[in-house]
Amino acid sequence: MTTPMNAARLGARGLARLLGEWRPSDGRGLADALTDRVRLLVLDGRLPLHTRVPAERELAAALGVSRTTVAATYEALRGAGVLHSRRGAGSWIQLRGGATGATPFSPNTADPDLHDLAHAALPAPLEAVRSAAAAASEDLVAHLGGHGYDLLGLPTLRAAIAARFTARGLPTGPDQVLVTSGAQHAIALLLQVLTGPGDRVLVEHPSYPNALDAVRARGALPVAMPLAPGPDGTGELDLDLLSASVRDAAPRLAYLIPDFHNPTGALLDAPGRTRLVELARRTGTTVVVDETLAELGLDGPPPPPVAAHGGADSPLLITVGSASKVFWGGLRVGWIRAAAPLVRRLAAARAAQDLGGPTLEQLVTVRLLADVEALTAARRAELTAARDHLRGRLSESFPAWRPSRPTGGLSLWVELGAPVSSRLTVAARRHGVLLAAGPRFGLDGAFERYLRLPYTLRRDRMDETLRRLSSAWGELDRVPADAGRHDQAVA
Ligand SMILES: Cc1ncc(COP(=O)(O)O)c(C=O)c1O
Repeated sequence: MTTPMNAARLGARGLARLLGEWRPSDGRGLADALTDRVRLLVLDGRLPLHTRVPAERELAAALGVSRTTVAATYEALRGAGVLHSRRGAGSWIQLRGGATGATPFSPNTADPDLHDLAHAALPAPLEAVRSAAAAASEDLVAHLGGHGYDLLGLPTLRAAIAARFTARGLPTGPDQVLVTSGAQHAIALLLQVLTGPGDRVLVEHPSYPNALDAVRARGALPVAMPLAPGPDGTGELDLDLLSASVRDAAPRLAYLIPDFHNPTGALLDAPGRTRLVELARRTGTTVVVDETLAELGLDGPPPPPVAAHGGADSPLLITVGSASKVFWGGLRVGWIRAAAPLVRRLAAARAAQDLGGPTLEQLVTVRLLADVEALTAARRAELTAARDHLRGRLSESFPAWRPSRPTGGLSLWVELGAPVSSRLTVAARRHGVLLAAGPRFGLDGAFERYLRLPYTLRRDRMDETLRRLSSAWGELDRVPADAGRHDQAVA
């Protein structure tokens, strides 16, 4: 095995922070407990493949344990196929058995025995996508004479997205829209163009894990801004705190999810939106508003986009959207609304990585957008019933848990009453249930007392999933004897 060329190096203090509270309370040895905790971090993606771990002596000093303890831990991790070491080159996270391609474990959703609560995403609305795809394959014919490359996105889709913004109260022209490969690509592209290594990026805490990963992958520094406790156990963006954080950290940009925040479900109200726009203008801070879940309000249409509150023409307000949650994740269509000159800059920068989105999927999205209101109304009814069903079942089976009651989005944010989210994730995996542990949504091991639970499974399947979860909950003391070996993907 060769040393990965691009291995990220994790310092001893960084790893100590990630480990959080790892010391055993149950009489197990230090090395056993440390081994288990590192395996947990690998399992749920907090310690990515290829990360170089610190030298034994440095980690021992940072943790206040003997070097023998760390040596025994590394030896056990090597035995478990999680760590690879080479004399002179150090040690790095690597999974035995050839799984070295940093490919996150993405469950095979066709496997009837895997219950996936790690992805907060719905199956496609079958009939709607089928007929949109049939119509789009006819639309495609008109494009086949061209070369098919378009960095900005298909003009018809840019126009349809602009029209949707306009209908929601934010006047937008097609030249203000860039079509991306999902919102995740949009976030990464914005970070690439607007930030550099070492820049501070303000994020809500908790926040969307793949966005946090994108900030880190850019070499930028995420600055955590805690969400205040919000109504019904959700979160609340505290504008005073945001203002103080912007003053103290002077971030290059702020990345926020004001519409049914993932994972808490928080929704920023209209006065808060106005204050956010004012804050951006007053402080000159670029604010990236991630609207991926915006169309999924359960109580009716959500408030108009943040930028509609006085920031329609402000170059500081950038809006990211997606077809993934409202239509289907498999389309891989997202977008950025920004000032036209920035859209052109982003398109130019994109060319280093990809040369545009697939034409057929963009045409399908045009067709679906034409029907967005009817589709969201149908989803709203289903999701409200699913949210209430899950909350009801949780209160029967897990009376000590305190689930939120969000007014939109796809998941509950559940307070577990004890810092056991990672252990529950491992125990659940043994019962065929995939979870995203609370700390996936935080920095430095935070949110071990929380779990995100999507209400996206069919009712009968959800009931079976909760039965399995209940068994896992009863086995927490035995965790983690045999943690899994994959990087858990989340959405
Ligand atoms: C807040 C948020 N942003 C971005 C994404 C990524 O979306 P996409 O599938 O469009 O890349 C998700 C998906 O879960 C999300 O919840």
